[in-house]
Amino acid sequence: MKRVALLGATGSIGRQAIEIVEAHPELELCAAASGSAPLDGVDAPLKQVGGDLTELLDRAQPDVVLNAVVGFAGIHATLWAMEHGVDLALANKESLVAAGEIATAAQARGGGRTLPVDSEHSALFQCLEERRPEQVHTLVLTGSGGPFRGRTRDELLNVTPDEALAHPTWSMGPKITIDSATLANKGLELIEAHFLFGIPYDRIEVVLQPTSIVHSLVRFRDGAALAHLGYPDMRVPISYALTYPDRAETPLRPLDLTALTLEFQAPDLETFPMLALAREAGEKGGTYPCAYNAANEVAVAAFLAGRLPFLGIAEVVADALERVDGSPVRDLDELVDADRAARAFADERLAVA
Ligand SMILES: NC(=O)c1ccc[n+]([C@@H]2O[C@H](COP(=O)([O-])OP(=O)(O)OC[C@H]3O[C@@H](n4cnc5c(N)ncnc54)[C@H](OP(=O)(O)O)[C@@H]3O)[C@@H](O)[C@H]2O)c1
Repeated sequence: MKRVALLGATGSIGRQAIEIVEAHPELELCAAASGSAPLDGVDAPLKQVGGDLTELLDRAQPDVVLNAVVGFAGIHATLWAMEHGVDLALANKESLVAAGEIATAAQARGGGRTLPVDSEHSALFQCLEERRPEQVHTLVLTGSGGPFRGRTRDELLNVTPDEALAHPTWSMGPKITIDSATLANKGLELIEAHFLFGIPYDRIEVVLQPTSIVHSLVRFRDGAALAHLGYPDMRVPISYALTYPDRAETPLRPLDLTALTLEFQAPDLETFPMLALAREAGEKGGTYPCAYNAANEVAVAAFLAGRLPFLGIAEVVADALERVDGSPVRDLDELVDADRAARAFADERLAVA
């Protein structure tokens, strides 16, 4: 029996995770948490709405933490799992992006595993099969390009939150759906891949694959390229992370290859600057990725609330990155300070926008 602590149980990933746990007798929920939504329908012995997630984890002592919280709020739970050597099924990419080096150090101390839930990283994890970075030529992250793929900047001037929330291939929570529309999601995933797999940024590429069938691929040094294919359905990577190293059954139909079109395109970095900004922030390191994430969270919330135009998201993040001193992050307190400072700047910037 594997005891799962599900954080973010009321969200898009959380609800699908409950479906997976209910379908597998060898999995049981030992704890469930949300930010503010009630957990009435969730069957777990320990439940917590709001509050300190690490206290819940201390009480639950899970075998695996599925961190499906959205945003930097998931940071303490990610670091708790890593420090305690407890397997971490990681959907909450923001925490790894922000914490980068200190998360890698915590993981090395704790000795547990990180099992990616992000579909691209789950794909890479499966293609890599724990091969060493020197055997890898390049990681190739794929993305659909979101609802605005192919548009010009002029065509993005007046897009509304509802238009941005209409993702062509994936059904997800609001924050990641906006991140997909700006390509910030691919930017966060680029940094996430760097820290998960220890591959330098110049060996991680991003290509668009509009139907979201190829979830990512690895080019190896011997010339082989291994790709992971499947219908876009998060139950597959959730199930893989929770039942690893087994590969349990899911209700998905087998992939029908004759009905597929697989086209690849380069992302438009000028129209969608969030991807290039993430690459720059990742390469600079220190507090830059944390600030990128924090400013993006503030800007996305403002866009969803109708207080910022779509193109303003990248402007706020670019301005916030200009203000970062880039000092190394030595511990969680410094990280929380860096997050707070970037949020405060982004808020100020919004007030004058
Ligand atoms: N959705 C996807 O298909 C997908 C795919 C890949 C990666 N991810 C990643 O998975 C994470 C979750 O995404 P999502 O789409 O599932 O988001 P979502 O639908 O917005 O759900 C977010 C969850 O986080 C909870 N939460 C927020 N703040 C919290 C706090 N302080 N303490 C405890 N719980 C808190 C929310 O609780 P309330 O309901 O109470 O607010 C909710 O249960 C994100 O990092 C995202 O990037 C998602």
